[in-house]
Amino acid sequence: MIRKAVLPVAGMGTRVLPATKVLPKELLPVVDKPLIQYAVEEAAEAGITEIVLVTAKGKDLLVDHFDRSPELERQLEERGKTDLLDIARSTCPRGVTITAVRQPAPLGLGHAVWCARPVVGDQPFAVLLPDDLILGRPGALKQMVDQWADTRGHLVAVENVPLEHVSRYGILDVVEERGQVARARGMVEKPRPEDAPSTLSVIGRYILDPVVFDVLERRQKGQGGEIQLTDAIAATIARVGLAGLRFQGTRYDCGTKAGYVAAIIDQALSHPDTAAAVYAHIQALNIRRAA
Ligand code: G1P
Repeated sequence: MIRKAVLPVAGMGTRVLPATKVLPKELLPVVDKPLIQYAVEEAAEAGITEIVLVTAKGKDLLVDHFDRSPELERQLEERGKTDLLDIARSTCPRGVTITAVRQPAPLGLGHAVWCARPVVGDQPFAVLLPDDLILGRPGALKQMVDQWADTRGHLVAVENVPLEHVSRYGILDVVEERGQVARARGMVEKPRPEDAPSTLSVIGRYILDPVVFDVLERRQKGQGGEIQLTDAIAATIARVGLAGLRFQGTRYDCGTKAGYVAAIIDQALSHPDTAAAVYAHIQALNIRRAA
């Protein structure tokens, strides 16, 4: 069973400045919920009971978001706003514990995951990158946990991307594809299109065997001079295997302006509080544009 999940949230979020000058990018809201809460809820749905946030200086608000807020709760209670009270109280899903560790320096995603090792221990664990928002039913991590029961080893969420985009992602060297699952013999971080073994790219969801920690411990730098999670996975494929799952659902790269806006539009069109008004607004826009 996969019970623990690591959420690396120490990054600076420079691609959406100035919004992220003070606000951690994972607190950017998509309609009414911050990105981090989508990831936490996705993890809880998948059976995760212990979540480790890997934070950094200036990102303590992320931890605050999951604490109780007695003053706010008292006010809502006094005013009889029970719906809002429920919302304010349930940022941390029932049965889930959220703790935080610090990444003392920005040495890369692999290093961030390694910082969670004391909490993760020696069991297989999940990693979710909250700025990859995935809207799916069931959630992407639940789909992965179900698949992992068959494949074991390392399992990553994958999606095909245009060849000119491979240098933004970890890319799988695929051996065999069966249905939604691609078995891989290698993985490279942000290759040039001419060097890419495929266009099957890793999206920010992983289920990892703890053997990755043996490699991360060596603190070897990879692409961009950073300690890469991709390299630690690639170096341990021979020991535990690697598969990619083509998940069902839509992924938004909320680390970019266009991806973030697309997420808001889609979510607003399916949220009961906003769907009708936003749909009407978009229709009116189309009419204006056609005119
Ligand atoms: C990270 C990983 C990369 C993965 C991507 C998914 O890159 O290093 O392998 O494909 O997340 O979003 P980053 O987006 O942090 O540069």
